[in-house]
Order: sequence, then C-alpha cells, then structure tokens
Amino acid sequence: MDWGLKNRLSRIIKPHNNRALMLAVDHGYFLGPTEKLENPKKVIAPILKYCDSLMVTRGVQRTSVSPTSDTPMVLRVSGGSSIIGDDLSQEDITVSLEEAIRLNASAVAMSIFVGSKYEYQTIVNLGKLVNEAEKYGMPVLAVTAVGKELGKDARYLSLACRVAAEQGAHIVKTYYCDNFEKVVQSCPVPIIVAGGKKIPERDALQLTYNSIKAGAVGLDMGRNIWQSEHPVAMIQAARSIIHGNSNVEQAYSLYKKLAAQDNQNKSKKQNNPNQNKSKKQNKSKKQNKSKKQNNPNQNKSSNSNQSK
Ligand code: R5P
Repeated sequence: MDWGLKNRLSRIIKPHNNRALMLAVDHGYFLGPTEKLENPKKVIAPILKYCDSLMVTRGVQRTSVSPTSDTPMVLRVSGGSSIIGDDLSQEDITVSLEEAIRLNASAVAMSIFVGSKYEYQTIVNLGKLVNEAEKYGMPVLAVTAVGKELGKDARYLSLACRVAAEQGAHIVKTYYCDNFEKVVQSCPVPIIVAGGKKIPERDALQLTYNSIKAGAVGLDMGRNIWQSEHPVAMIQAARSIIHGNSNVEQAYSLYKKLAAQDNQNKSKKQNNPNQNKSKKQNKSKKQNKSKKQNNPNQNKSSNSNQSK
C-alpha cells in the first residue's frame, strides 16, 4: 500500500487502537433537509471536535464546515436519486477525484446497491472509482445496504460487504445485524457500522458496543447523534465506547451526566435570555471606548463631515 493511501487511512481509522468514529451528515444528498439536520452548519459546529472524521457531501463541506478545521473529510461522491424518486439505487459517481483532492478529502465514499435493480451499475462504478482513487492514494469507502428493505441479515450483509471488498474498497460501511461477527469475518477490509434510524440513546450505545465487540473498527453515526436531545453528550458517550473501551452502562451514565449539564445550561439561558446580549453590549461599549481613546478626533471629524 502506498504511503499516501496509508496516511489518509490512518486519519480515519486511528492507528493506535484501530478504531474510528465518523460523524455522518451526508443524508441531505437523497433526503433533502433531514429532520434536525436542516441547518448543517449549526449542527456540525458543536460536535465536530468529538469525531475522528466527517462523512459529508461537497455542498455541505463548502458551505457548513470551516476550511480551518483539521477534521478529516470522507467525501460522498455518489448520488443521483432522491427519496421521492423512482428508485434510490439508481446512483452514479457525481464528484470527480480532482474535486475530492481539491477539497482535501481523506477518503471518498459511494453506495453500492447489491440485489437491487441498479446493482450492476453501482458495482461497476465502485470498481471504476477504485481504479481512479488508487492513482492518487485515495481510500474508497463503499456503503452497502442503504434503503434495502429486505434481508438486512448476516447473509445479505456478508454478501454485500464482500462484493464491495472484492471490487477493491478499502473500508466498507454497513448496518449491524445478529451474528455480525460473520459479516466481519468474511470481509477482508475494515468494517464501519452505520447508526441507522433514531432509537433511544441507550439502545444506540448498545449498538455501538455490540458492533465493536463483533469486530467492526468503528461507527459512522448520524441520526442517533444529531437527532438526540443532547448531541454533544451522545457523541461523547459513543466515543467513550469506541476509544475509551467503556461498556454500555458506563457510556450511558456519561450520556446522562452530560445531558443533565446541558439541561442546566439551557435553563440558565432561558432564565436570563439577556445574558449573551449584555455581554455583547459590554464588549462593544469597551471597543468603542478604546477606539475613542486611540482616535480622540473620531467624533469631531464625523461631525464636521456631517456639516459639509
Ligand atoms: C448513508 O450512507 C447515509 O448517508 C449515512 O451516512 C449513514 O446512514 C449513517 O448515518 P446514520 O447513522 O444516520 O444511519
């Protein structure tokens, strides 16, 4: 494996413990303004520092993530269908490798739809993307099983993940299921588990724990973080399992503690809504005062301008 590819992979899967916490915010590419992700900039800002990498589209990256961020980007490069269209599986590659490099992506991601009407097209696209990506040392993450209503069981997921790995994907993302060890064991590349639909926080932490225990290197979690009442608490709790080896009880206790602090902070703000305002007012008064001190003729000259 080339140095550049290894280096990029190590930004996503941390080499010291072979674990990864990815924050998924790419849902809009087929769901539009997903509930609680209507304003990606606001959602991403407070939780970004707790993830290892961000799964993102180029539109959200450019508009809603600061270019000074040092969080590695896993850039979704496939799309073409929406939730109200005919068939979600009809995807193509929509972002070039050049563009991914321009956006300083640490990996590119695309979906394959094994067992769907567009299976052939998406699997061939994965092979082509790997051909291109290998030229630049860019890792490819293949997403399997999105939108597949039937058979999200170990048999189907093993098949889908193995097909992705055989095409050269460097990481595979899929859903958790019973007997997940089987999926992991028959896939020769690291597996990252998608969080899936919002479920109670404790259950999402249990899913995180089970996935890691079964051999996944990490989680790519979206809705179970930012659709939680307390996203900052939730991402830290998930992180404590992935990187801190917490069990579910420990992680859930951490969640409850941080959620309680969050509630306290929110109620303080509600009781004193002018807190921030008055801080801002004081700040601008101070700034004006120091401007005047630095330029005592400031007002004079503006008065004289007015009189002209
Ligand atoms: C699928 O690729 C989606 O775009 C998400 O990245 C993925 O489903 C992970 O997000 P969530 O945890 O909300 O399922």
